Order: sequence, then structure tokens, then C-alpha cells
Amino acid sequence: MLFKNQIITCRILRTGYSAEGIAEIDGMIVFVENALPDELVEIKIIKLTKKFAIGKLLKILEKSQYRLNLGLCQNYNCGGCQLIFVDYDYQLKLKENIIQSAFRQNAKIPDLKINSVIKAVQIFHYRNKIILPAGIDENNQPQLGFYMRRSHHIINIDNCKLHPKITDKIIDITKKFLINAKISIYDEIQHTGIFRNLMIRYNNDLSEIMIVPIINADELPHNELFIKMIRAEISEIKSVACCINKNKGNVILTDNLKKIDGADYITAQLSKKKYQISVNTFFQVNYEQTEKLYEYIRKLIIDRGKELSDKPIIFDLYSGISSIGIYISDLAEYIYSAEENPSAEKLANINFKINNITNIRHITGKSIDVIKKLIAQNIKPNIVILDPPRKGCEKEELEILGELSDYIIYVSCQPTTLARDAQILLSRGFTIKNIQPLDMFPNTFHIETICEFVKN
Ligand SMILES: C[S@@+](CC[C@H](N)C(=O)[O-])C[C@H]1O[C@@H](n2cnc3c(N)ncnc32)[C@H](O)[C@@H]1O
Repeated sequence: MLFKNQIITCRILRTGYSAEGIAEIDGMIVFVENALPDELVEIKIIKLTKKFAIGKLLKILEKSQYRLNLGLCQNYNCGGCQLIFVDYDYQLKLKENIIQSAFRQNAKIPDLKINSVIKAVQIFHYRNKIILPAGIDENNQPQLGFYMRRSHHIINIDNCKLHPKITDKIIDITKKFLINAKISIYDEIQHTGIFRNLMIRYNNDLSEIMIVPIINADELPHNELFIKMIRAEISEIKSVACCINKNKGNVILTDNLKKIDGADYITAQLSKKKYQISVNTFFQVNYEQTEKLYEYIRKLIIDRGKELSDKPIIFDLYSGISSIGIYISDLAEYIYSAEENPSAEKLANINFKINNITNIRHITGKSIDVIKKLIAQNIKPNIVILDPPRKGCEKEELEILGELSDYIIYVSCQPTTLARDAQILLSRGFTIKNIQPLDMFPNTFHIETICEFVKN
């Protein structure tokens, strides 16, 4: 029997959904963060429940050949890059295992065949968006960093391996501004203070940067000083806007934006398509891999198109700013795209214009409601693209789509909900033609998966 604070040696057998090591001791599952399969480790039991235990890694007695000798990132406690200490090809193996065990558990498919992961070339400094909470350190100085794992304690970050290097400089200037201008820092318990978060967005070659202070006030005091300080050192600043958030709670961005300087957007490019991106619209976090993702979807549509007599009608559901639709519009007769975030519509229409696209209708609304409206107008798709957030699709939506279409491309960043939704589609007569993982998030346990469902 295990007991709390027990120190014990065990062998890691496999990894879990968050790539944490899993051991089995006396029939009990024990999760051990930062431990890899086959490693012999000494752990301390820090949590014990009826179903599982959590062990803190104390010592590695036998090391995996895939553990790198780099040591952990100095900001490792932020929890952002859980696999940074693991050989990249082995990271991809672990991610394939995550997808397979999700399908084993949630779709009851014991031996899912999947293609090897589409790798990233740039495995560091790839993220194009960062949101940093502000806080106060023990010396009463402003901090901008990440929350420590499972806590609301902020740790300063320096030399982050996932974000562009220029991020450090922007953080530094912003902290100096907060001190010089005596801007108060937001206290989430008291709901007092002004400066809540700093968001930064980058375009592909870092030639355009967007800076967004998120504030609990109608304006950022001394904002002209902020612009002066930031422009004096960073010439690539394209847009500075305040996002006003006077609400309590964890939601960071609101639609209440106040431009301070420059344009309302930055422009990214994927292949020949241009995308204007604004403060609060969704865009995938890794441009290199997004282009590969969209190119892969394009290839699937070209293949499917060969089986059709005319160009397809496509539903692009959970569409953000209709980014996938824009990338594949030349392959379609017409695309109906559905996105619930109302601020995406204006930007989608701007992006249609700058890319000379006239065959997409972007509709604001919940995907399921948009589908029902289109059905009522007798509009039926030849191809459906689903790209929901982590929680996946609604059951009713999948049931309707199961009747409406015989070809679905499902793009997912959460294998467990993909597998759950796959089971619903399989029960409606679909089979899985192909599963292609793509590494959108190197050095983390996250993985993007493209799953092709067909009905014969
Ligand atoms: C993973 S993103 C995909 C966006 C887009 N396909 C892309 O590649 O950039 C998911 C999008 O779904 C939107 N969303 C979430 N729930 C939704 C719903 N029920 N109906 C429509 N859109 C939804 C989110 O606002 C977000 O823009």
C-alpha cells in the first residue's frame, strides 16, 4: 500500500495524455512529471487518491536515451514547454502514442494506424502570440511572466525557448515603463490596479509586431510615454492598442479596444495568401506548421475533388477568420464558413478583399445553428471541414453532419475529444480513411491531428 510522502523507486512504463510518466505500483497508477518511459526513478508520493497517485521526481537512477543533456529551461516551472528536455523525434513518438491511447480509450479502436507526424523545422521560438500576466514581486516591483504550473504565482520569464527572442526586450521596456509612469498593477483578488496583462503578436518574419496592454481602466495613463519608449528601441512595432477589461475573472480579452498608435492589425502570409490579424481574433500559433496544415487540407480536397463532377460546396466550420477557406477557395464552387466570435466577421471580409476572394460567405454564429440555417435553405456540402477548440464538437452537430455529408475533414488540437467525436461519426456509418498528426506545438505535449472520415 502506498502512503503520502513515501519515497519509492519505480520504473516508468509509458506516458499519459500530458506526456507525464506513468508507473504502476501495487496495482496503483502513479503519474510522475518529467519522467520518460523506461527510466528507473526515485519519487516521493505527494498526492494519493483512490484511483491514482502523483509522484514527485527526486532522482533518475537509470536515464532514458532520449533525455537530452541540456537541463531544463530556466523558466521551466511555467509549464509551457513540458517536453523541452526530450529528443525531438522521440517527442513525436510520444505524441503518436497520445493519439493512439485516446482512440483506444474514447473510440474503442485498439490498434489505430496513423501516419508519422509532420515535423516542424523550427522547433524553438515559433509561437506568434504571447499573453503575459502582470504581478508584483517580493520587492514590490512589477513582474510580467507566466503563471507557475497549477498556481496563480507569476514567475518572470527570460530567454523563453518558444517565443521570438525580441519578446525579452519588449517585456523589459514595458516593465521600465510601468515603473517610470508609476502604473499600478492589477490585483485579481481586490479587483484594483490598472495593468492586467501584456499581449504581443508577431507576423511571420517579425517585421510587424502588435502590442496590447490589457487594462482595468478606460485608458493607459501616460500612453504617449509607452509608445515613445517602445518605438525608440523596436522599429518593427506596427500596432499598439489597449484592450479594456474591467471585468472580474479569468477572461483576458474583451472587444473594448482603444487604438493608441499605428494600424489595427498585423499582416501574416501563408504561401500566397495574406491574412490581416487583429487583437482578438483566433489565428494558429505557428505559421510554419499552419502553412503545412492548410497545404495538407488542400491536398485532401484536391483528391476528393477528383471523385466529384463539379467543384465542391464546402462548409468550413469553426472557421476563425475563415483562414482555411481563404487558403482553399480556388478549389471550391462556394464555401460557407461559420464562426461564433463576432469580431472575426469584419476581418474575414477584409481578408477576402485583399486576397480577391468572392466565393466565401462568412457567417457569425454557433456552428450547429449555422448548419441548421443552411439546411433550411437547401444548401448541402460535398465536403465539411471541422476545426473546433479543445472541447470538440457538439454531439447533435455531428449527428446532423453524419446525415448531411459523406466526407469530413476533422482538424483537432485535442486527441481525447477527437476520439470521442470519431466514435459518434463511426456509429453513423463513417470510416476513418486517414489520420495525419502534425506538430503545431514542438517541445510541448500538444499535437494537432487531421482525421479524414468517409462514408461509403
Ligand atoms: C481551433 S480554432 C480554428 C480556427 C480556424 N479554423 C483556423 O484555422 O484559424 C476554433 C475556432 O472555433 C471558434 N468556436 C468555438 N466554438 C464555436 C462554435 N460553437 N461555433 C462556431 N465557432 C466556434 C473559436 O472562436 C475559434 O475561432
